[in-house]
Amino acid sequence: MRRTLRMLSRFLVLWTFLQTASSEDTQIPKDKLLVVTVATKETDGFRRFMRSAKHFNYSVKVLGRGEKWSGGDMSAPGGGQKVRLLKQFLGEMSGDERVILFTDSYDALFASGSGELLKKFSQAGHRLLFSSETLLWPHRLLEDKHPHVSQGNRFLSSGGFIGYLPNVKRLLADWSGADSDSDQLYFTKLYINPDKRKSINMTLDSRCRVFQTLHGALDDVVLKFEEGRVRARNVLYDTLPVIVHGNGPTKLQLNYLGNYIPNTWTFETGCTVCGQDLLPLSSLQELPSVLVAIFIQQPTPFVSVFFERLVKLEYPKDRLQLYIHNQEPHHESHVSSFLKEHGDLYQKITSVGPEEELDITVSRNTAIDLCRQNKDCDYFFNLDIEVVLKNKDTLKILIEQNLPIVAPMITRAGRLWSNFWGALSAEGYYARSEDYVDIVQGRRQGVWNVPYVSSVYLMRGSLLRSELQDIALYNSQSLDPDMALCDNIRNQGVFMYVTNLQMFGRILSTENIQTQHLHNDLWQIFQNPLDWEERYIHPNYSRILKGQLMETPCPDVYWFPIFSDTACDHLVEEMEHFGKWSGGGNKDNRIQGGYENVPTVDIHMKQVGYEREWHKFLLDYVAPVTEKMYPGYYTQAQFELAFVVRYKPDEQPSLRPHHDASTFTINLALNHVDIDFQGGGCNFIRYDCAITSPRKGWALMHPGRLTHYHEGLPTTAGVRYIAVTFVDP
Ligand SMILES: *[C@@H]1O[C@H](CO)[C@@H](O)[C@H](O)[C@H]1NC(C)=O
Ligand SMILES: *[C@@H]1O[C@H](CO)[C@@H](O)[C@H](O)[C@H]1NC(C)=O
Ligand SMILES: *[C@@H]1O[C@H](CO)[C@@H](O)[C@H](O)[C@H]1NC(C)=O
Repeated sequence: MRRTLRMLSRFLVLWTFLQTASSEDTQIPKDKLLVVTVATKETDGFRRFMRSAKHFNYSVKVLGRGEKWSGGDMSAPGGGQKVRLLKQFLGEMSGDERVILFTDSYDALFASGSGELLKKFSQAGHRLLFSSETLLWPHRLLEDKHPHVSQGNRFLSSGGFIGYLPNVKRLLADWSGADSDSDQLYFTKLYINPDKRKSINMTLDSRCRVFQTLHGALDDVVLKFEEGRVRARNVLYDTLPVIVHGNGPTKLQLNYLGNYIPNTWTFETGCTVCGQDLLPLSSLQELPSVLVAIFIQQPTPFVSVFFERLVKLEYPKDRLQLYIHNQEPHHESHVSSFLKEHGDLYQKITSVGPEEELDITVSRNTAIDLCRQNKDCDYFFNLDIEVVLKNKDTLKILIEQNLPIVAPMITRAGRLWSNFWGALSAEGYYARSEDYVDIVQGRRQGVWNVPYVSSVYLMRGSLLRSELQDIALYNSQSLDPDMALCDNIRNQGVFMYVTNLQMFGRILSTENIQTQHLHNDLWQIFQNPLDWEERYIHPNYSRILKGQLMETPCPDVYWFPIFSDTACDHLVEEMEHFGKWSGGGNKDNRIQGGYENVPTVDIHMKQVGYEREWHKFLLDYVAPVTEKMYPGYYTQAQFELAFVVRYKPDEQPSLRPHHDASTFTINLALNHVDIDFQGGGCNFIRYDCAITSPRKGWALMHPGRLTHYHEGLPTTAGVRYIAVTFVDP
């Protein structure tokens, strides 16, 4: 008898053990699960939630579509409408084994599939599992009534729960509140009531195994990247939540997480917005009509280049309308010559000049309105003057992204400065996100949901006529127009994206702009060296350092392309504009005592304030050639004399034989033989070797003294200009 009992008790232990083990392993069949959410409006956040659901194969029942939302907003109690709709919906449903997952969807997303969800739910050992939170909200006084938990969050969050149908029904049974009443408070009161808690069999997911709320927990959640996949991890409890909820003021953090979850993502190839359908332009009968709004708010370099690029933008001009607001008298000539030469090609042009003294905020709102109020305006494309769009297809690429608001990522050359922010500080200003540098430097590529874009961005016209209607987007009590725009957009729950899937271009520095010259861009070699180079350095220059194109017309005389046509023209025009030619036969204009005895008609770089820039040019572009051609010679490109010489038959046509006061001399031809002048050239007497067909933009480099005694050959017609520098005197 005792033996039998012992055996029986052993059997019972074993049986219980098997029971427990099997209840843990018994998987709830996936088809028993139904995801329910309430969404009265299809916000971007809702679409993101649905994309994540689709990615993980959840089927979602959406309640309340088209209803007016009356459940309050995130910062105030409310949400009763959700409870009413859910209660109503479940009322008609039966099946004891059904499992209902109820979750918010405007600010939540799935991070894993239903297999893991249901497993973790059964492991919780209760029939109803609620999302938890570190902060008690909205009724702090209820704190003492909350049961203690051994580890994790002590308070309930109404943003998500999962439970068996009968238990969920029991949870909702007592609801009779108004739509504007607090769901949070209702659920909390049930939870802190021991009898209710027991009869509903509810508990909290305190360690965030299923539900991660971000409110008060931002520092606990990190992203874990692994083999092209990414997962949010709660580092406090070492859990991998299935649903992430950006509740309270953490929506933006969720946007950030949403950049990665549930995207499968790799460092090399990047991703596009997960599940977002592109809009291939080839599928359209006619390209969308775009309003391009251009703002010139400060003196800016390379404005004429901006307009050249605008003309070359790959997009039919009869589908483009332009709004140009120029606040700078300095740039009026650039705008008017663009309008004169190309204005007719565009569908329509509105141009506002500096004399109208239109406030920039008003102007930006006006431009938006031009698109908003024209139902045929498909897109609004903002393009500030300091944007350098190198990619001619930018507009097409952005439209194809098929997003409400998208900016091409542009950066300041060689800097971390860009036209987007990765994150926002608590005060609403810039904060650097963990991945900001990787995105700016292109190590992570994709289309990113960000809290701020500026300078160049595309907005859907339909968006301006719906979610963003009736809002003066650039207005704010305290913020500058750029920040006001993003703040207003974020407040409407509209997402902004930036793409770095392609290279688009860069943004100019507008600091320390000189405006007193004729061609101020010549002075930009320090501020915007890359743009300066593209504008002013010969397109074949880079090939000479590779040993190509270099010619040696006479012993130790090297001949190579260095200046672009534009550089030659601008330098000549600048000198003629300045006009104080000295020396030669023209005694009246001679500058007394200032410069060494150079027996030419010339203007020195110093006279036009171009010495520092010229030195930088010599250092960056001439010194490397010198050091390559005269091995072992290193130069800091010091000079005392650098000047532009003018040769004219009736002024000074030639220069008698002489040595130069230099270690080596650079003689740069600034115009075209046979087109601008006849004759000219340089003769090296010791070698009886003459270069008689100078090439515009090409430099002669030769030793100054001793061996290279030389003369300037007569210019017989027209006017010839050269830029001469005596380097290392
Ligand atoms: C979703 O379902 C599709 C097709 O049944 C399958 O290929 C895919 O792997 C599933 N995705 C997940 C995350 O389970
Ligand atoms: C709650 O449900 C679990 C799982 O079904 C069960 O084991 C447990 O006894 C229930 N608790 C109460 C208090 O009813
Ligand atoms: C650059 O070099 C190539 C090949 O020598 C030549 O065809 C081309 O015209 C050059 N470009 C310019 C702007 O001189």
